[in-house]
Amino acid sequence: MCGIVGYVGGRGAQEVLVNGLRRLEYRGYDSAGVAIADGRGGLEVHRAAGPLDNLVAVLPADGTAGTTGMGHTRWATHGPPTDRNAHPHRDATGRVAVVHNGIIENFAALRAELEADGVELTSDTDSEVAAHLVARAFDAQGREGDETAGLTAAVRAVVGRLEGAFTLVITHADRPGEIVAARRSSPLVVGVGQGEMFVASDVAAFIDFTRDAVELGQDQIVTLTAEGAVVTDFLGETAKTRPFHVDWDIEAAEKGGHDFFMLKEIEEQPAALADTLRGHLVDGRVVLDEQRLSDQELRDIDKVFVVACGTAYHAGLLAKYAIEHWCRIPVEVEVASEFRYRDPVLDRSTLVVAISQSGETADTLEAVRHARDQKARVLAICNTNGAQIPRESDAVLYTHAGPEVGVAATKTFTAQVVACYLVGLALAQVFGTKYADEVAREYAELESSTVAVQRVLEAVVEPTRALARDLATSKAVLFLGRHVGFPVALEGALKLKELAYMHAEGFAAGELKHGPIALIEQDLPVVVVMPSPKGRAILHQKLLSNIREIQARGARTIVVAEEGDETVRPFAEHLIEVPAVSTLLQPLVASVPLQVFAAEVARARGYDVDKPRNLAKSVTVE
Ligand code: F6R
Repeated sequence: MCGIVGYVGGRGAQEVLVNGLRRLEYRGYDSAGVAIADGRGGLEVHRAAGPLDNLVAVLPADGTAGTTGMGHTRWATHGPPTDRNAHPHRDATGRVAVVHNGIIENFAALRAELEADGVELTSDTDSEVAAHLVARAFDAQGREGDETAGLTAAVRAVVGRLEGAFTLVITHADRPGEIVAARRSSPLVVGVGQGEMFVASDVAAFIDFTRDAVELGQDQIVTLTAEGAVVTDFLGETAKTRPFHVDWDIEAAEKGGHDFFMLKEIEEQPAALADTLRGHLVDGRVVLDEQRLSDQELRDIDKVFVVACGTAYHAGLLAKYAIEHWCRIPVEVEVASEFRYRDPVLDRSTLVVAISQSGETADTLEAVRHARDQKARVLAICNTNGAQIPRESDAVLYTHAGPEVGVAATKTFTAQVVACYLVGLALAQVFGTKYADEVAREYAELESSTVAVQRVLEAVVEPTRALARDLATSKAVLFLGRHVGFPVALEGALKLKELAYMHAEGFAAGELKHGPIALIEQDLPVVVVMPSPKGRAILHQKLLSNIREIQARGARTIVVAEEGDETVRPFAEHLIEVPAVSTLLQPLVASVPLQVFAAEVARARGYDVDKPRNLAKSVTVE
C-alpha cells in the first residue's frame, strides 16, 4: 500500500503530482503530501492527514514554481494517520525529502542510532529515518572531484542498511532537477516522456503524460533527470530493466459515468471473464501465460495447496471444488497468513497455487517464498503484470480484469474464479484425468459464463438496490450456502462488512444447527444462496429445510435461486433469480447480486463505496 509519484521535467510539478496522486489514492488515503524543488534552492513541502482533497486545500492555488518533485498517498503502518506522520519526511535541515512505501523492519535500531547522535525525529514513522540517513550520507561525501559522490551514491549507501520491503523516492535541495528512487519488493515503474521523466507505484499515475514505461526490478536504483533515467543495482552495477508500452486506456480507470468505481467494475465482469479466458485454449489444450515447469514436473504433483487472502481466498475455496473434481488430487485451501507459520508438509511434488489480484500482498508473497524454500512448485494467479508474486512463481496465469480501483474486489474475484477453473483444466489434461474433448467442453462452458453474468446485471441490479435500501438500517445480515454456495456466502458477508461496516457472517448452511442458529431473531435478514434444484437436488432439499428453520424463527429470508425454481418461492421474502448455469459457474452468477447489495447498503448508509475505512487496495505488510 501507499502510492508514490515523482516528476522531473518542464511542467509545473504540483499539477503533475496531484494528478498522479489522484490516480493512486486507491493505494491508501490516510494522508497525502508533496515535496517540490522551489527553484530558489530549497524544498517546499505540503502535507495533510485525510484524503487527497485535504492536501489540495492547503496547496498554493496557483501552484508552486518548481518542476521537480514527488508525492505520496499513505496507508498508515507505523504511526497514526496524522499530519506529522504524513509523507514526505525531511531531515533536520529540511534539504532532503523522502517518500516511502513498505516497512523498514530495522527502523527502531536506526532510529536509536540517530537519536544517540542527537538527531531529533519529528514523526512516529519508520520512513523518517531514511531522510536523516540519506542527508548524513550525502553530507559525508567528499564531493569535490569525487566521481562516485552524489545523491544516488548516498541513497545506495543507505539502502544497504535497510531491512524489509521498501520503495523510496528521494530529492535533495542541492540537486534540483534530479530525483532518485530505490526499489525492494514494493512496486515501482518509470515513465519515459519527452524531456520529462516520471516514477510511480503504478503507471496510472503518469498515463496522462506518457505510455512508455520501464519496470524496475528488485534492488534497483533509478536516477531521474529531465534527460532520462540511469538504473543501477544496489551495488552500483548497471542493471537490466524491462521497457513496456501501456496499452490500456485511461478511460478504463475512470468511473465511466458511475458514482463509484466499484459499480463500474461490477458491470465490467462479463468483459473481465471473457478477457481472462481469451486465448487460453490453443489447439485443444489449456495454456497458462507463463510456465517454467515441464509437463513431467506438473505430472509429478501429488497434492495442491491454494494460498490467498480475503476475497482471493474465497476464489481459492472454489478452486478446490474444481480441481478435486476434475483432477482427483487432494487440494487444501488456506489463508496465506497462517500457511507458512504452521510448517505445512511441502516438497517438490506439491503445487502451491497463490492467488492475488495485486500480486503484492505480503502474506501471500511470504507464503510463496516459504513454499519455494521447501522446493514446492508455485503457480500464481494474478491481475497485475510483472508483480512480485508472479515474478517469484514457476507458472503464471493472469486474470485480465483490468485495473480495479474500488478497494473491494469485484471483477478481480470473478476473474480469479474462472482463472482457478482454467488451472484445474490445465492440470486435468496434464494428469490425463480429462480428455481433450472434455477440456474443450468445459472451456466452452466457462465462456458461457460471460453471457450469464451479463443477464444477471441486466435483470437483478435495480431490484437488488431497492432491497439493499430497505435493509440498510439492519444491525446484521447472515449469509448461508452449501457446496460452491458456501464461498459465495463468505464473500457476500465480507463485501457487506468491508463496505457497509455492518456485522455480517457467512456460514455453511449445514453448520447452522451447530450454533449459528442461536443468532436468528425476528426480522434478521438472512441471505441464502440456493443450489440448482436440478443440478444439486439433494443439497437443494437440505437448504430448503434450512430456510424453513430460519423463517420459522422470524428471519427475513432473501434467497438467491435459479430462475424457475418455484419450490423456493414460498420461503423467500425476497427472491433474487439468477440464470440456470452449471454448478461451478453458479458462484459467478450468485456473487454479482451480493456485490450490488453490499455497495448499495454502503451508499444508503452514506459511506464511500470505493474507499472503505481502514482498508487499502494492496496490503504489502504482514
Ligand atoms: C476484499 C479484498 C481483499 C483482498 C485481499 C487480497 O474485497 O479486496 O480481501 O482480496 O486483501 O488481495 P490480493 O488479491 O491483492 O492479494
